[in-house]
Amino acid sequence: MRVDHSDFGRCHSFVIRHFRGADKRSTVELRLISEMRSNGEDSWTPAPVPDTNSLAKVAAAAKECTACPLYRRATQTVFGEGPTRATMFLIGEQPGDYEDVAGKPFVGPAGKILNRALEEAGINRDGVYVTNAVKHFKWEPRGKRRIHQKPSARDIAACRPWLEAELRLVEPKLVVALGSTAGQTIFGSSFRVMKERGKILSSRLAGKVVATVHPSSLLRQPDEASREREYKRFVADLRVALKAAETE
Ligand code: URA
Repeated sequence: MRVDHSDFGRCHSFVIRHFRGADKRSTVELRLISEMRSNGEDSWTPAPVPDTNSLAKVAAAAKECTACPLYRRATQTVFGEGPTRATMFLIGEQPGDYEDVAGKPFVGPAGKILNRALEEAGINRDGVYVTNAVKHFKWEPRGKRRIHQKPSARDIAACRPWLEAELRLVEPKLVVALGSTAGQTIFGSSFRVMKERGKILSSRLAGKVVATVHPSSLLRQPDEASREREYKRFVADLRVALKAAETE
């Protein structure tokens, strides 16, 4: 179902049912809708998640996704990766330049710092499920470079059914939201990661959620001292997540 402006209300009722399997709209969803309206982002299709309990089938269907225009510029869909029954589930923002080419999440510079921090926090990356809120790389050309662009409310909303399917099928004990896009995908646009980081939170999507900064923010620190300080805080947040994942 391709949606245009005149279909807006009807589409949103469809999306809400699709997202939730229920009739009631949550505050998060209402806010998302109103943001999309004010941004004029009203041409999109909810991601067509197949009715299956197989994560492999969902991943295969995601490869063909054209729900929002991001697929046109991206090399490929970058779906989540990790054990189907992982206890811990990490959500980033969207694939970057490296991930877009490799077809795997968090394999570039942000992935390297994430791997180091996970190891230091005592978490084995091979044992966790790693994915992104948005599954296509959003970028704009600048000379020969592809410059990352932040995903919009439309991009996140169109892609959200994939994330919901991953969460439903993996059923993790704990979700780690890496950065504000992941946090806002779970809790809505008023979520402030710097205020909520390192706490054990709860949402309809996941019983336990710990939010922290995005690993790429560590790479943008102005000097060595702040890089080191922020890296330590990041590892501390991951330790909180590990402890929460290990307790009932
Ligand atoms: N940043 C993200 O949010 N996700 C990736 O997979 C890579 C970089």
